[in-house]
Amino acid sequence: MKLLDGKLIADQIKTEIAAEVKERFLDQGLEPPHVAAVLVGEDPASLTYVAAKEKACREVGFISSVYRYPSNITQEKLLEVVDFLNADQEIDGFIVQLPLPAHIDEHKIIERINPVKDIDGFHPVNIGKMALNLPCFLPATPMGILTLLDRYQIETAGKNIVVLGRSHIVGTPVSILLSRKSDRGNATVTLCHSYSQDIPAIASRADILVVAMGKEGFVTADMVKQDAVVVDVGVHRVPSSETKSGFRLKGDVDFEIVSRKCSYITPVPGGVGPMTIVSLLQNTLKAAKKEVS
Ligand code: GUN
Repeated sequence: MKLLDGKLIADQIKTEIAAEVKERFLDQGLEPPHVAAVLVGEDPASLTYVAAKEKACREVGFISSVYRYPSNITQEKLLEVVDFLNADQEIDGFIVQLPLPAHIDEHKIIERINPVKDIDGFHPVNIGKMALNLPCFLPATPMGILTLLDRYQIETAGKNIVVLGRSHIVGTPVSILLSRKSDRGNATVTLCHSYSQDIPAIASRADILVVAMGKEGFVTADMVKQDAVVVDVGVHRVPSSETKSGFRLKGDVDFEIVSRKCSYITPVPGGVGPMTIVSLLQNTLKAAKKEVS
């Protein structure tokens, strides 16, 4: 078994981005790319994600701003924030961190983002362009998974790929990307969800298994074909007496036993997570270079 080392690849890509920021922007006397994040409330996972994104932006020389609001912000006010960021010429791209409080309609907020600044790739225009294989911003986690497969030269064309989970952020877009007629596409993709019958039987036929169910340790060895490639998108905090913090991160896959059976596997942490963040940086660079219209 070999690790698909997302941390290593993300660090390599960050070095490449930092060099491009210097050459294309700083050395030409231009302002570096500027990214903003909107953070509503105090959801612990969201606080962690946004802090990690800010740190990565600093590492590559981007400017990053965070707009923080209490969880009782009204939908109208949040729409005004989006309008403000759409209009701000200094900001190349921005994200609204999800989930939002229940009284806010996430779709309304995302649809208000100007698609050319939608570096999360969540706007229906970007999702539509993605499905049609047109230039667009790809959602960060699916994009990170494709980049990881690409850097490890793992072929997808003609392979049986099973995706577990159909979320708008991961499962649905990654299944579209892997089945598109393009690089790291051309696979036969099966998308499993809560109505799927006999997931273990379907999963165990996969050459590549992408797991984004949000269920800790769901995938066990019997669900994995010998020498399959396993990509684990899950992130769960579980109590641990072995760490100073009192918890450790685990994925949707039972790593201990599955790693003995597969050819490649992403660890948690250090697999898909760092690739998600670096994809956001790549999208920001694309936005700053005005490559998506
Ligand atoms: N919440 C969980 N993942 C993401 C992401 O990639 N982008 C945003 N905006 N919110 C998230």
